[in-house]
Amino acid sequence: MSASTFVREFFRSWKTTGAILPSSVALAHRIIESANVPRARRVLELGPGTGAFTEVIKDCLPHTANYLGLELNERFVETLQSRFPGFDFVAAAAQQFDFDQYLRPGEEGFDAIVSGLPWTAFPEQLQIEILNNVLPKLVPGGCFATFAYWGFHRLPRGRHFRELLKQQPGRLRVTSVVWGNVPPAFVYVVQRDE
Ligand SMILES: C[S@@+](CC[C@H](N)C(=O)[O-])C[C@H]1O[C@@H](n2cnc3c(N)ncnc32)[C@H](O)[C@@H]1O
Repeated sequence: MSASTFVREFFRSWKTTGAILPSSVALAHRIIESANVPRARRVLELGPGTGAFTEVIKDCLPHTANYLGLELNERFVETLQSRFPGFDFVAAAAQQFDFDQYLRPGEEGFDAIVSGLPWTAFPEQLQIEILNNVLPKLVPGGCFATFAYWGFHRLPRGRHFRELLKQQPGRLRVTSVVWGNVPPAFVYVVQRDE
């Protein structure tokens, strides 16, 4: 059901959906572990789609932790809300979401940010706008994890995105490739300095 919803939305809006199939369980585990989600208190997911990563987050998120998913596509948000009733989803563009309105007084931000956004499909300016809006909300020591399709990372927009990640304060790590994903993908992890 989630795959058919995903394929339909790809044909409706391929530029923002960015993939014809949801990510595999193997890639979901790789990205969730890379972001340290099992030890997080507050998790942000960008572009959850039909919930490929959310399903793994649900299984490993501590009971006391909070989750927020920002998803542009309202049809996906409806699917997510019925699939994950205890989680908080907002139909919003990651580059425009007002985190200061959302976070409660005293809450600095998120200690794990997981992204399913199709960065190489985005114009360079949009890559910058999203990172500028989201990454300041990563708390010191927190992790931002996002995937790239192997090979696509060498395209001009893929290289531009990697350069943007290198400029972030903190350490950039690259995981090995998950060959079983379609297409194969690896994960970029930025861990913010303490
Ligand atoms: C490649 S799909 C990934 C879906 C899911 N995370 C997965 O890996 O199967 C990208 C998702 O990002 C969403 N998206 C695209 N641009 C967005 C934006 N600016 N803000 C929030 N979500 C966005 C799309 O609607 C789509 O659901």
